[in-house]
Amino acid sequence: MTEQSPGLDNLLNEVRTFPPSTDFAAQANAKPELYDEADADREQFWAKQAERLDWDTPWTQVLDWTDAPFAKWFVGGKLNVAYNCVDRHVDSGHGDQVAIHWVGEPGDTRDITYAQLKDEVSKTANALLSLGAKAGDVVAIQLQMIPEAIFAMLACARLGVLHNVVFGGFSPHALRARVDDAAAKIIITSDGQYRRGKAAPMKANVDEALEGAETVEKVIVVRRTGSDLEGEVSWTEGRDLWWHELVGGQSAEHTPEAFDAEHPLFILYTSGTTGKPKGILHTSGGYLTQAAYTHHNVFDHKAGEDVYWCTADVGWITGHSYIVYGPLANRATQVVYEGTPNTPHEGRHWEIIQKYKVSIYYTAPTLIRTFMKWGAEIPEKYDLTSLRVLGSVGEPINPEAWIWYREHIGAGKAPIVDTWWQTETGAIMISPLPGVTSTKPGSAQRALPGISAKVVGDDAKEVGNGGGGLLVLDKPWPSMLRGIWGDNDRYRETYWSRFADQGFYFAGDGAKYDADGDIWLLGRVDDVMNVSGHRISTTEVESALVSHPTVAEAAVVGAADATTGQGIVAFVILRGNAGASASGEEAVQALRNHVAKEIGPIAKPRQILIVQELPKTRSGKIMRRLLRDVAENRQVGDVTTLADSSVMDLISAGLNSGKSED
Ligand code: WT7
Repeated sequence: MTEQSPGLDNLLNEVRTFPPSTDFAAQANAKPELYDEADADREQFWAKQAERLDWDTPWTQVLDWTDAPFAKWFVGGKLNVAYNCVDRHVDSGHGDQVAIHWVGEPGDTRDITYAQLKDEVSKTANALLSLGAKAGDVVAIQLQMIPEAIFAMLACARLGVLHNVVFGGFSPHALRARVDDAAAKIIITSDGQYRRGKAAPMKANVDEALEGAETVEKVIVVRRTGSDLEGEVSWTEGRDLWWHELVGGQSAEHTPEAFDAEHPLFILYTSGTTGKPKGILHTSGGYLTQAAYTHHNVFDHKAGEDVYWCTADVGWITGHSYIVYGPLANRATQVVYEGTPNTPHEGRHWEIIQKYKVSIYYTAPTLIRTFMKWGAEIPEKYDLTSLRVLGSVGEPINPEAWIWYREHIGAGKAPIVDTWWQTETGAIMISPLPGVTSTKPGSAQRALPGISAKVVGDDAKEVGNGGGGLLVLDKPWPSMLRGIWGDNDRYRETYWSRFADQGFYFAGDGAKYDADGDIWLLGRVDDVMNVSGHRISTTEVESALVSHPTVAEAAVVGAADATTGQGIVAFVILRGNAGASASGEEAVQALRNHVAKEIGPIAKPRQILIVQELPKTRSGKIMRRLLRDVAENRQVGDVTTLADSSVMDLISAGLNSGKSED
C-alpha cells in the first residue's frame, strides 16, 4: 500500500543494535520504569509531567476527550507559558545562567542570561501592549535566527497573543497567505539577514507581501544588517517602527497574567495535500507539558550542566518546541546560530560545538548527509568530546548516515535519538530513550512513555511484527494540535476521517514493525513531499507552476534524493505558443525561478521536464506513481489503467535530456 522508495529494503534489513553504556544508563533522566509508570495510569502520568511546570491555578481534570477530536488537557488549569520559560528560573536563583549563546553568521556573538531574557521579553511585551495587542490577537513573525525572534515569541506567549511565525525563506506571496488567513495585526521582521556571508533583504519581502493587506496595522523592524544592506530600507510612516526605538524605550517590568491551559499559544502553517497551507493550532498547558517532558527525557537534558543545540529554524515546529518552549521550560543553556553550516567554512558547526562545549546536538538527516559529503576530516579537526547525546529529526535517517553520525560526531558512543513527530503532534512522539533503548540505525523504534502509536492496515487492524501499513496515533496526547485555524471540517477530514470508526489520528506516514516490534517510518503516503526535512505539497508546487503564463498543465512528484531525502521533480506541459517559441532550457529556468518566487527557494524543483502529455487514467486522474518511477529511474510500473499507454515511453525518453540543476 505504501509506495516505497528504493533503499528502504536495505534499511529494513538493518540488524545492528547499540545499547547505551552502563554509565549513561545509570545517570539517565528516563529509566525503563518510565514506560511501566505511564502504562499503569496514563492520565496520572501526564499529570505528573504537567507538575514539572508552574501553574497559577491547578487543573480539575487531566483530559476531556468528550468533544473528540477536539481535546482539552488540564481542564481548568491556568498558567503563563512565558513565565514558565523565563521568570521562574530567575525566581529560583538562576538569573545569571546563560539561556542563549547566540552566534551571528559574521562572527558576532551575544550571551543572554535568564535575567536578561526576562528583561527583553518583558520589554517586548510592553511594546506590543503599547500598540494595542491583546490576548487572542495574532502577531506574525518573519525573522531569521536572531535573539529577537525568541523574545518576540515569548512576549506573545506572555500576553496570550498568538504568534504566527513564517519561515524567513518564504516568498511574499506565501507570507501574505499566512498573514491573511490568520488576520495578523502586527508583523515583526528585520531589515535584512546575513546568509552565506552576504546581507540579504528581509523587510523588502514583507513590504511586498503587505501591499493591499487589510489586517496588518504595524510592522516592527529589527535592525540587523544596517548599512551592510545595499539600498534603502523603504519605510511606511505610521505603520513601520524600529524595534530598538519601540522596544528599547520600554520598561523591563511586566507582570505576567495566567491564561487557561487551553488558551491558544500559536498558529504554525504547514503544507497539506491541497494548495492551501493549514494553520496548525496549538494551545498552552498540554503543549508546554509535552515539549518540556520530551526535551528532558529524550535528550537527557540536565539543567545547568548541559549545553544544548538544536540546529532548526524558529520558522518550523522544531524551532518552536525544541529551541523555544521545551528547552527554556527546562532551564537549558543553548546555542542559537544565525547562519548556514558552511559559512565561512565547512567546520562551522564543529567549531561552535568546540567553543561552547555543546553536549546535546539535534539536527536533520539532510544536514548529516551533507556533512558526510564534505568529509569526515572536517569534524576530525575539532574537539567534539563534549557531545553526549545526538538527535535526528525530519525524515527517516538512512543507516549509512546514522552510522557516520555516531562514528564521526558521537565518537562511537553518544546515543542517537531518531525522533518522529510532526507540526501537528507538537512534540516528539516516537523515539528511543537514550539511557534505555538499544538503538537501531534507521528506526525511531517506540512510542514514548505516555504516547500510543500503532501501525495498521487499511482495515484499521494492527499489523503483526514484520508487517507494514499506516501509522496512527490511537490515543490523544497533551501537545496534539487543537485544530486547523478557521477550518474545523478540514481538521476532521484530514486527520480523523480515514479511521473515523476507531477514532485514530492518521499521521499520513507509512510505517512497518520489525521482528522485535520496533517502528520504522517509511515516508509519506499522501501527496506531500519531504525535501531537506521541509514539508511541501505537490499540489502547492503544481499551482505555482500553472500560475505561470507559459504552463498549461503540471504534475509534481517527490523523487528519492541522496542528500535532500526527496527532490522535487515536475512534469510540465507548455501552452501551444509558448512550447514553440521558448527554448527548453530557458523555459525550465524561468519556471524554476517562478516557483521560488511564488513559494520560496525551498520549493524550487530539482528537475523540470517539459512533456507533451501526462499519464492519466481514463477518468483523468494523473498517475503520479508512474511519474515517480520515471523520476527515480525505475522501470515504469503497471500502465494498464492509462488512457494512452504510449505516453510513458515518450516521457521516459525525454527525461534525461531535461535535467536542470543549480
Ligand atoms: C513529517 C512531519 C517533526 C519536525 C520536523 C518536520 C517526517 C519527521 C521523522 C523521523 C521519519 C520523519 C514524517 C512526518 N518525519 N521526523 N524521525 N523519521 N520521518 O515536521 O514538517 O510537520 O513534517 O516529517 O513524514 O509526517 P513536519
